[in-house]
Amino acid sequence: MKHTKVIEKPQDLIEYRKKYSSIGFVPTMGALHAGHASLMKKASSENELTIASVFVNPTQFNNATDLEKYPKTFEADLKTCGENGVDVLFFPQFSDIYPDNYRFKLSENEFSKLLCGAHRPGHFDGVLTVVLKLLQITGCHRAYFGMKDYQQYKLISDMAKALFLPTEIIGLPTVREASGLAMSSRNMRLSAEGKDKAKLIYATITQKTSPDKAREILTANGFVVDYLEDIADRRYVAATLEGIRLIDNVEI
Ligand code: PAJ
Repeated sequence: MKHTKVIEKPQDLIEYRKKYSSIGFVPTMGALHAGHASLMKKASSENELTIASVFVNPTQFNNATDLEKYPKTFEADLKTCGENGVDVLFFPQFSDIYPDNYRFKLSENEFSKLLCGAHRPGHFDGVLTVVLKLLQITGCHRAYFGMKDYQQYKLISDMAKALFLPTEIIGLPTVREASGLAMSSRNMRLSAEGKDKAKLIYATITQKTSPDKAREILTANGFVVDYLEDIADRRYVAATLEGIRLIDNVEI
């Protein structure tokens, strides 16, 4: 178990990380679980300094209740960081990250408009903007993302190429419960019954059926399906259960 140092101010982190020549970074919104831990482990195995961040980024939420209800578990998160080789936990406030009050933002105009982007206007502008800021602050050589949020991973990877960022963007496989349910901070808000039912998402998208049929199965089981679509070689789904929006994707 490592002692993880908590840093709150961007300037302090910029100063601290200067002496390191290989920095790995895992951005998160906290409520850490085994999915986040897998990114941290990989980062700490490949870099001299491993930084994680916990910042519930308001600019990527288009639903005030979702933002408000986002689980906050700082002490447990700090422990997870220590157990998975994180040296520094960056834990900023809104004004630290947005001294401009979100006057400047980064947008993408194609892939970000599909899937989650079509249902959550402005969501990916918020994600891309905060990730760009965090990459700058951490000065990382490698940043690690989960393919559970494949659309997010792909957009960040494309942004890094488009803007000639010096950071290598690494995508790692989705960590699942034994039931197949993709681990997510939002799962904590499901009832026991809901959590059991939620395993149908993965079970359904891995069946050899058409997207329409898969959507029908989920709807018949009480999910409100935002989208269930095949794009290129992936099947993507977003579905709401007990008012909680869950996403997943698989290679097809
Ligand atoms: P968050 O949902 O906390 O996820 C942080 C990272 O953990 C993301 O790269 C996400 O894809 C990854 N992750 C989540 N669940 C996973 C799972 N079951 N298996 C593998 N990886 C998983 O994604 C965000 O935060 C934010 O949008 C962020 C990138 C931090 C920007 O605010």
